[in-house]
Amino acid sequence: MEEIKFNQIGVSFKGSGSYVPDQILTNQKISQKVDTSDEWIKSRTGISERRISNLKENVTEMGYVAALNAIKMANWDIETIDLIILATSTPNDLFGSAPSIQAKLGAENAVAFDLTAACSGFLFSLVTATQYLKGGSFKRAIVIGADQLSSFVDWNDRRSCILFGDGAGALAIEATNLFDNFIGFDMRTDGERGSFLNLPSKNNKDSIVDNIDFLSGGFSSIQMNGQEVYKFAVREVPIILEKLFRTTNFSSDKVDWLILHQANQRILDSVGDRLKISKEKILSNLEKYGNTSAATIPIMMDEAIRDNRIKQNDIIASSGFGAGLSWGAALFKWG
Ligand code: UT7
Repeated sequence: MEEIKFNQIGVSFKGSGSYVPDQILTNQKISQKVDTSDEWIKSRTGISERRISNLKENVTEMGYVAALNAIKMANWDIETIDLIILATSTPNDLFGSAPSIQAKLGAENAVAFDLTAACSGFLFSLVTATQYLKGGSFKRAIVIGADQLSSFVDWNDRRSCILFGDGAGALAIEATNLFDNFIGFDMRTDGERGSFLNLPSKNNKDSIVDNIDFLSGGFSSIQMNGQEVYKFAVREVPIILEKLFRTTNFSSDKVDWLILHQANQRILDSVGDRLKISKEKILSNLEKYGNTSAATIPIMMDEAIRDNRIKQNDIIASSGFGAGLSWGAALFKWG
C-alpha cells in the first residue's frame, strides 16, 4: 500500500506559562466592601478568592512573565520567535501592549500586536496564530492572554465585583510538516447582545475652542447583566462545541479535557452536563482565581500541564465566551 504522507503545514504545542499576582482578595475581604458573603459567592460561582495586581504589576509585566515561562518550557531561543499575539482588553497602553512585551523579551525578530475580544480573546488569538503558522507565514508564535480587570471593576457593585481577578497565561506554538495538532475551531460574535456585558468609554463632552467639541478619553467600569450572560453561555457554548465535534468527526467521549473560560462553576457544570463530559474531565481553578478574562484558559492549561494532568497527545476541547458578545471553540491535541 502506498504510504500516506502529511504534506501540509500543521502546528505543534511546545510550551505553556502563566503568572498571577501574589495579592489575594478573599470572599471574606470583599464582604467588608460590599453586602455579600463567602457562602453566597461560593454557592453561586464556585469562587473563593482572586488575585489583584499590586501597584507595579500590569498586563505587560504579567504577560511578559507568562510568555517567558512558555518560551523556557519550549526551550526556544528568543530570536527564533516570529509572532507574539497578546489577547487583552486592559492593555496598559491603549495603542497596544504586545510590542512592549516583545521588547522586554528581546524578541527582536517577532511582530507583536494586541487582539481585543474580552473573555474570548485567548481563543480568538490562538485561532489567529495557528492560521498564520498553517499558512506558512510564520514558524514560531507566542499567544498570551492577560488581563487586569481589577482596574475596571466597580468595587461597589456586588453583582459583578465578586467575579473578577487579574493574571496572565501563554502558549508557545510552532509550525511543523509532520502532523497537525490543531484539529478545528469555530468563532462567533453577536453585537446585538453586546449591551449585556461591556466596558464603555466615558464619553465626557469637552471643548477645544469655541464650537469645536470633543469627547474626552477614558473608560467607565464593567457593566454586566449577569443573568443574560449566564443564559447566553449555557446555551451557546454547548452548541458551538457540538458543531465543532460534528464538523471534525469527533465525539465528545474522545475528549480528555474540557477547558472552558473560567467564568462560573455553574456554567462549567451545565456545559459539561449538556455535552455528557464527566466532571473529572472539566478543568477548573475558579476557586483560586475567579474570572481573569483572556487569561483563564492559558492559566488553567499551564497549571494542568505542569502538574501532569494534561499529557502529550491528550485531546483538549476549549471554549471562550463573553463580552461582544463573542464566543468560540477549538479542538486540539497537546504536544
Ligand atoms: O466572562 C463572562 C463574565 N460574566 C459572567 O460570567 C456572568 C455570568 N453570570 C453569573 O455568573 C451569575 O448571573 C452571577 C454570579 C453574576 C449572579 O448569580 P445569579 O444566580 O444569576 O444571581 P441574580 O443576579 O439572579 O441575583 C439573585 C439575588 C438578587 O437578589 P434579589 O433581587 O433576588 O433579592 C441579587 O440582588 O442575589 C443578589 N445578589 C447578591 N447577593 C449577595 C447579587 N449579587 C450578590 C452578591 N452577594 N454578590
